[in-house]
Amino acid sequence: MSKETTLEEKALPAGPCVMVIFGASGDLAKRKLIPALYNLGLAKMLPENFAIVGLGSRPLSKEEFEEHLSSELCDFVSCEINPKLKNWLVERMHYIQGDFNHPETFQELEKTLKEVDKKYKTGGNYLHYLAIPPSFFLNVVEKLSSAGLTQEENGSWRRIVVEKPFGHDYESARALNLDLQKHLREHQIYRIDHYLGKETVQNILVFRFANGIFEPIWNRNYIDHVQITVSEELGVEHRSKYYEEAGALRDMVANHMLQLLAYVTMEPPNSFDAEAVRTEKAKLLQAIKPITPEEVLSSTVRGQYGHGKSAEGEQLLGYRGEPGVSPESEIETYVALKFLIDNWRWADVPFYIRTGKRMSKRTSEIAIFFKKPPYTLFSHTEVHHLKTNVLVIRIQPNEGISLSFSAKVPGPVLNMGRMKMDFSYCDYFGSKKPAIGYETLLSDCMKGDATLFLRADNVEYAWETLISVMDVWKSMPARDFPNYDAGSWGPEEADKLLEKEGRRWRNV
Ligand code: BG6
Repeated sequence: MSKETTLEEKALPAGPCVMVIFGASGDLAKRKLIPALYNLGLAKMLPENFAIVGLGSRPLSKEEFEEHLSSELCDFVSCEINPKLKNWLVERMHYIQGDFNHPETFQELEKTLKEVDKKYKTGGNYLHYLAIPPSFFLNVVEKLSSAGLTQEENGSWRRIVVEKPFGHDYESARALNLDLQKHLREHQIYRIDHYLGKETVQNILVFRFANGIFEPIWNRNYIDHVQITVSEELGVEHRSKYYEEAGALRDMVANHMLQLLAYVTMEPPNSFDAEAVRTEKAKLLQAIKPITPEEVLSSTVRGQYGHGKSAEGEQLLGYRGEPGVSPESEIETYVALKFLIDNWRWADVPFYIRTGKRMSKRTSEIAIFFKKPPYTLFSHTEVHHLKTNVLVIRIQPNEGISLSFSAKVPGPVLNMGRMKMDFSYCDYFGSKKPAIGYETLLSDCMKGDATLFLRADNVEYAWETLISVMDVWKSMPARDFPNYDAGSWGPEEADKLLEKEGRRWRNV
């Protein structure tokens, strides 16, 4: 069962297990999973009794697979490779080439797992990581189940990790959850949102609930509004096939952005137990006010980048010119929208969210704008405008937290300047950090701690908030695409979204 992991357990390696990677010759395994396992090994957080079984479609011998992984490790691990650890890992890697549609592949897997269990004393504990397109999820889970590889018996555990997208809308997410639950108990399903693996995202709850001074003012009485920005400099890269079906709303808002919003706004759970945290998150997501079809027109903005220039002056293609993208594509690469939360704490506080590709700068941050103080005290002085205090939680890059406030500029005239108290992770904890962001997630999953993973209802409520946006956008294709230049801050309409309410996007 999913459980609260004690601090002592957090600091220890997980117990014996095998990690089975479906899609072992693919991109996710190479860029994230194997390097994260290496980093866990470096931090002495991998179990002594551990092995990896990779499944993929490419015909690779054991030697070729080892060679493939070793060279990828060198490409994707940011520090110098420790040969002893690399050899330890490579020695524990096994590869099965097979078609996920064929039951023989799973018979072969069962046989390999038996041998591996015996050799490495992994106790029949399996972490099946589905690093494969979602269209294969169910098929693989069904076949794993038929091969007896998902049943938890004799004290062993069996878990499945799935990557987003979890469906493409509310209905399909619900159907996927129900289908998965036919073969697995909910506590066996680990739905990954890699944003929850980021240190700075995990720190949001610590910042809020481990400090006495913020929570009393964390509500509608003191907070004017909140802005959540996730901007990317990169374009669609080599992912046009996926992105042409997804777009920014499904790719970023339905998951990462709503998770950030939930962490900033949820009520304190009564413990750090996975169920307690995810229940509060579910309550919050459920409290997001449904956007009506009329509000979609006034409270949401979508955009698509045209050609433009990067900050360094490099010419950038427009989205419709990217390889694999339709020249008439209606897919949005930018979204800005306003959410309201229907509960006692947040009534009437707007939450403005924006995310886009090919924007001027890569940044993910949450900015909390506090209400202005009453003006009267300074009205007979040189001070013409009082500014709001802004608390900025910088998720990435330049991770940290800052609070801006006004202070008197020294001199005989009463004048004010803007000051900042700034905490930077780098200054306090050094620049050394887990390079990948999957380390904690993998380790937690091996330990059975599901706090940082999405429960079925968390996924469904998130999609539910976007139903009318999807419906209206679908029935009214955007006529003005492309409507922002690559390398800019998005469409002008997004500025108007805030301006009409007397606010402005923070200049990041
Ligand atoms: C992924 C999206 O989930 O998150 C990508 O599919 C996006 O489109 C990425 O680029 C952003 O993640 P990060 O960690 O780079 O901010």
